Amino acid sequence: MATLLRIDASAQLEDRSLTRKLTGIFTEEFLKAAPDTEIIVRDVGYEPIPAIDHRFIHAAFTPPHARERWMRERLALSDRLVDEVEEADIIVMGAPMYNYGLPTALKGWIDHVARIGRTFSFDPSRGDFPIEPILSGKKLVVLSSRGEFGFEAGGQRGHMNALDPAIAACAHYFGVDARTIETVAIEYQEFKDDRHYRSVEAAKRKTREIALRLGSSWPVSGSLVPDTPVIPSAHEALERTAFSSSRHFPVNPDSEARRR
Ligand SMILES: Cc1cc2nc3c(=O)[nH]c(=O)nc-3n(C[C@H](O)[C@H](O)[C@H](O)COP(=O)(O)O)c2cc1C
Repeated sequence: MATLLRIDASAQLEDRSLTRKLTGIFTEEFLKAAPDTEIIVRDVGYEPIPAIDHRFIHAAFTPPHARERWMRERLALSDRLVDEVEEADIIVMGAPMYNYGLPTALKGWIDHVARIGRTFSFDPSRGDFPIEPILSGKKLVVLSSRGEFGFEAGGQRGHMNALDPAIAACAHYFGVDARTIETVAIEYQEFKDDRHYRSVEAAKRKTREIALRLGSSWPVSGSLVPDTPVIPSAHEALERTAFSSSRHFPVNPDSEARRR
C-alpha cells in the first residue's frame, strides 16, 4: 500500500486556486489506479506554518535527551510534519509562484521539515559537504501555477524562477532525489487568455498522466528513485520543469493533516 502526502500551499481556497485543482486531480487519479492508498493532507495555505525563530532553532539543535519541555512543545509541529514525510512514499506538492519564489507557507513547511537528526545529519568531518540526508526513496511531484510565463530554462523569465530551484535544492530533506522530481506548471494565469486556458488543459492532462503512471506502477514505483539523493543545479532543476496547465476541483479546506 502506498502513502501519498498531499501538500497544498495556495493562500486561495479551493474555488480560486489552480494548484489545489491540480493536487485534487492528482489525488483522485492516483486513487483510481491504487485504491488502497493512504492519503495524508497537509494544507499549509489554509493553516500556515509559523516562521521558525530563535526558540525553534535552539530546541532543534539541543539533543533530544536534553530537551526541556518548552523545547519539545516548540518542536511538536515540526515533529508531526517530519512524521508525515517519513510515512509518505509519494509527495504531491501544490506550489504557487509568489513573488517569483515559494509561498511563505511552503517555505515554512520546508523550514520545519529540515531537521537535524531527523531529516539530515551534520558532520564537519565530511569536509565541504557536512550535510547528509537521512530519508531516501521518495517521489516528489510539484504542481505549480504562475501568473506570467517563460520560467523554463532559457525562457524569457528563466533567470527569475526562484521556485523550482529552491524546491530541488531542498528535496533531499524530504527523501527525494531531485533528479526524479516531476513538475507541471500552469502559466499565463494573469493574462486569462487562450494561452492560459490551453496551459490549464495541458496541465490537467499531464497531472492525470503522471498520477496514473505512478499509481499503476505502485509498488514498483517505490524503487524508481536511487538511494542517494543529489542536489541539482538551478539549471538542471529548471530543465526538468514541464510547463503545462488546470481547472476547478473541490478540496476539503481542513488544514490539519487528514487521513483517508
Ligand atoms: C501574492 C501573489 C504573488 C504572485 N507573484 C507572482 C510572481 O511573482 N510571478 C508570477 O508569474 N505570478 C505570480 N502570482 C500569480 C500566481 O502565481 C498565480 O495566481 C497562481 O495561479 C497562484 O496559484 P493558485 O492559483 O494555486 O493560488 C502571484 C500571485 C499572488 C497572489
